Amino acid sequence: MPQVNPKPTRPLQAATLALKGGLMHDPVTQAIAPNIAMSVNHAFAPGDGAFSADGVADLTALPFLYAGWTNPTVRQLELRMAALEGADDAFATASGTAAANAMFFTFLKAGDHLIISDVCYAGVHELACKLLPDYGIEVSTVNLSYLDDVAAAIRPNTRLIHAESPCNPLLRLTDLAALAEITRARGILLAVDSTFATPVATCPLALGADLVLHSLTKFINGHGDALGGCVAGRKDLVERIRSRAGVYFGAALSAQNAWLIMRGIDTLFPRMQAMSASAAKVAAFLQAHPAVSTVIYPGLASHPQHALAQRQMRVPGALIIFQVRDPEAVAQRLARDAAVFDYAFSIGHQRSLVVLLKTQDLLQSTFTLTPAQLADYRRYAGDGVLRLSIGLEDPQDLIDDLDRALTL
Ligand SMILES: Cc1ncc(COP(=O)(O)O)c(C=O)c1O
Repeated sequence: MPQVNPKPTRPLQAATLALKGGLMHDPVTQAIAPNIAMSVNHAFAPGDGAFSADGVADLTALPFLYAGWTNPTVRQLELRMAALEGADDAFATASGTAAANAMFFTFLKAGDHLIISDVCYAGVHELACKLLPDYGIEVSTVNLSYLDDVAAAIRPNTRLIHAESPCNPLLRLTDLAALAEITRARGILLAVDSTFATPVATCPLALGADLVLHSLTKFINGHGDALGGCVAGRKDLVERIRSRAGVYFGAALSAQNAWLIMRGIDTLFPRMQAMSASAAKVAAFLQAHPAVSTVIYPGLASHPQHALAQRQMRVPGALIIFQVRDPEAVAQRLARDAAVFDYAFSIGHQRSLVVLLKTQDLLQSTFTLTPAQLADYRRYAGDGVLRLSIGLEDPQDLIDDLDRALTL
């Protein structure tokens, strides 16, 4: 497919890459906006195809045999995600969880050891801790903020470390450059779920990670109307994932969802900037409110890792967690009376969301923590937090909703 524009004379800025990086004219019509290509199959000539020396098929070198591996619309999204993350290539999946599955089942086999953050997105945490051991994979959960703990947990068979920064739901950060030094020195793959940060805040590959994952369902699509996921990184790693997960998992992203997600990428930078600016105002309001005991937001000086946030995040993001004395009552009032917030799970949409995450519930369903890990969890979340995902509304309206719910 032809490129849209001649090569720029110097590298494009990240915000420009969100609009232009990886985007191509339609080769037939020269349409400049992406089309939705619905065909499942594409014609080819016998003998077409490319295999690298180790026998791994580059399934994108034969466009576009079967939509289970890739399709023109999904491929555009993959190239745009690769451009945004500074990766050689990306592999898109039907959801963020499918991207994690694709990565785990590509790089881990029986007898291997995985280290995963003791706290991260519940679905992926449970996948790692409840399912992978059934396949003979050893799994350790470590607080990745403490690099000495990481070094101590590494075994001769450790193949992969899975980090999430900021992590769900604590908004705790991992020093990715420092962690990458540890993994590089030992030949361990470092994968970072950057869903909460987005490429607007952090580019994990530039900090030394090998793979970056996204739930595209969240900020990157940004409109709450399409599930998607992707994993991006070096060409050989992505090829390996595609040739296993693309062929065998059956978790291909649909062309329609790829198109919606690309529509979201067009406005990713201004959305993240506006939502971060609003979140900063909401966080400052909460911090000053007498009914609020703790606010965790990477942009607040009181965040336990504020210095790291300033170093590693270009914007502090749109997520806030906070503690109050009676979180259930406040959650009830928000669910019933809020004029703007919707009471719902998920994050990263254009409309603001709030949900109560009780520590006891998450300890029962998902996280098994050592006493030290539990103490750290409670430092961020106490007995439970209200999680806000700030959208694009006027922040004053959001503050008014919160003020009403916090004032008995
Ligand atoms: C950090 C993070 N990673 C991955 C996922 C999974 O994404 P999906 O819902 O697209 O499967 C989520 C979902 O909430 C998440 O918060």
